[in-house]
Order: sequence, then structure tokens, then C-alpha cells
Amino acid sequence: MKKSISADEAEDCFSGFPVVLGTVGGEKDNIITLAMCHVFSFRPPYIGVGIGPKRFSHRLFKESKDFAINVPDRRLLRETEVCGSKSGRRVDKFEASGLTREKASKISAPLIAECPVNIECVKVKEVEAGDHTWFIGEIVAARQDPHYDKADMMLYWGEYRVIGELLK
Ligand SMILES: Cc1cc2nc3c(=O)[nH]c(=O)nc-3n(C[C@H](O)[C@H](O)[C@H](O)COP(=O)(O)O)c2cc1C
Repeated sequence: MKKSISADEAEDCFSGFPVVLGTVGGEKDNIITLAMCHVFSFRPPYIGVGIGPKRFSHRLFKESKDFAINVPDRRLLRETEVCGSKSGRRVDKFEASGLTREKASKISAPLIAECPVNIECVKVKEVEAGDHTWFIGEIVAARQDPHYDKADMMLYWGEYRVIGELLK
């Protein structure tokens, strides 16, 4: 017999969402660790990230015309935690994490050299949804390390994981 659970418990039932590092330019550039990341459209190719208004990055994402989604793998767990615990208000997260800025081909936001996947997005929509704003961007360029293995990508929801068994 299933038991009734609270909204908090319902949100907690997921085993993980993809962990990405969002980068944005502007008066000051910044990196933010994000697990709220989703594909919103295939054609045109839209990808979005959800950011809370209290984050320093929220203002930067609001003010910027573009942003990048950088996919770290399990080797970048420490750097991912730095970018998800320190605020760009007080520190330069490239310096704090040791990650390296790389110039993007089509956008002003910096990319992260150490991430095996970099996706350049031009902002097309902002959606206020409760306590997060979803910044949706069209993918205008992307690059991937030929050795990138999706099995090394991290998932997060309270705990960090990597994907498990292949079912089909
Ligand atoms: C694994 C992980 C996932 C996170 N996902 C999100 C997210 O999806 N949205 C968000 O607003 N904050 C998320 N955070 C929190 C921010 O990364 C964190 O508050 C960060 O310090 C904000 O930096 P900023 O103040 O420079 O913007 C996450 C943190 C971690 C560690």
C-alpha cells in the first residue's frame, strides 16, 4: 500500500539531475553549479537552467544576452562543489576552483576549458516559476572532447551519483 507523502518528499524521490556549470559574462564573469538543467526543444535546440533569485548569478543571467552550459565529469567534483558553495559576489570562482577560462566562439560568456562539453547559448526566454527563474537559450555552438564518456557525467539530488546500469 503506498503512503501519502509531502511535496518535499515527492521532490526528493528523484535519483538525480545532470550537474552542469553555468557560465556568464558581464561586468564580472561567474560560474554557478546547477542541477536544474533541461532540454526544452530539439528544433530549434533550446536548453534551460533554473536559478534562484538570491544567487549572484541570477542578476548576471538576467543582464546577459548569452550564457554557456559546461558539463563537468566526475574528475571535476571538487571544482563543482567550490562553484556550488562559494558566491561570485565575494570570490572569483575561476581562481577559487582553479578552472580555466576559455573564449567562446559565438557568445560573450566564458567557457571552462577543463569541462569535456561546452554548449554556447543565446538567451531566448526567461520563465519565472515559483522560486526559480528558468533561463532558456538557443544552442548556437557546442564542442565536445572526443574521449567524453556520458557514464562519467555527474547527477545530483542531495547526493552526487553517476549513471548506473544500461537497461535498453
Ligand atoms: C550540485 C549542486 C547543484 C545546484 N543546483 C542549483 C540550481 O539548479 N539552481 C540554483 O539556483 N542553485 C543551485 N545550486 C546552488 C548554487 O550553485 C550556489 O548557491 C552557488 O554558490 C551560487 O553562486 P553565485 O552566488 O555565485 O551565483 C547548486 C549547488 C550544488 C552544489
